[in-house]
Amino acid sequence: MIEKCLFPVAGYGTRFLPATKSTAKEMLPIVNKPLLQYGVEEALAAGMNNCAFVTGRGKRAIADHFDISYELEHQISGTSKEKYLQGIRGVIDQGIFTMVRQREMKGLGHAILTGEPLIGDQAFGVLLADDLCMNQEGAGVLQQMSELYNQFRCSIVAVMEVPDDQISAYGVIAGEAMGDGLYRVDKMVEKPAAEEAPSNLAVIGRYILTPDIFDIIRTTPPGRNGEVQITDALQAQAQNGCVIAYKFKGRRFDCGSVPGFVEATNFVYENIYYDL
Ligand code: G1P
Repeated sequence: MIEKCLFPVAGYGTRFLPATKSTAKEMLPIVNKPLLQYGVEEALAAGMNNCAFVTGRGKRAIADHFDISYELEHQISGTSKEKYLQGIRGVIDQGIFTMVRQREMKGLGHAILTGEPLIGDQAFGVLLADDLCMNQEGAGVLQQMSELYNQFRCSIVAVMEVPDDQISAYGVIAGEAMGDGLYRVDKMVEKPAAEEAPSNLAVIGRYILTPDIFDIIRTTPPGRNGEVQITDALQAQAQNGCVIAYKFKGRRFDCGSVPGFVEATNFVYENIYYDL
């Protein structure tokens, strides 16, 4: 059973400036709920009650969001507005929230390594809050992956097919199809040019990682954009052991881009949101 989930949340959110100048991009709301809360709820629903945030400067709102606000509680306690706090109260009660600060932005691999003291020697989830995933038919994506981990006991990455003209924005896998949307990964490349992409299967921001990944990251040199890439560390792990790619069930919205953010907002407003 996987108990911990790491949330790398130190990024600048430049594509959403000026909104992200003094606010964490993970706190931008999709309708009435911050992006990060959707991610935390997905992790909690998968049984990952221990949420580890790799934060950075200017991200204090994240720590405050997952804690009690006494003044607010006091002001609206007993009024008709109290119902609006129920959702986040439930999240705060269910989760254990820990944080570590990433002082320098050196890539996703580096962010994950920065979270090592919060994870220790156990397999863990990684959730990139920019990728909002919804599965109205059943279990959330992290839960689907956690169940696969119990079966295979190796690292798992979530993948989806993307068109050729978008593939260079992603980590891309190649591997042997095992059926049921599963692939045994033999190659991973970070943001390849379209003509060099080994397939059209792009990694999205959901991972289950076995803890040997930390030692691998420690010896992984900077790759694409001069950053330490988790994709490169997973490529090394795939050579020595096993990494499985999984075509997840559900929808994913790229909330790191303005069109994806708007699409997610419309989807949630039309299908999920309701006024209490
Ligand atoms: C990161 C990863 C990339 C992955 C993507 C998913 O890239 O490095 O491999 O495909 O997340 O959203 P980023 O979007 O942070 O540049």
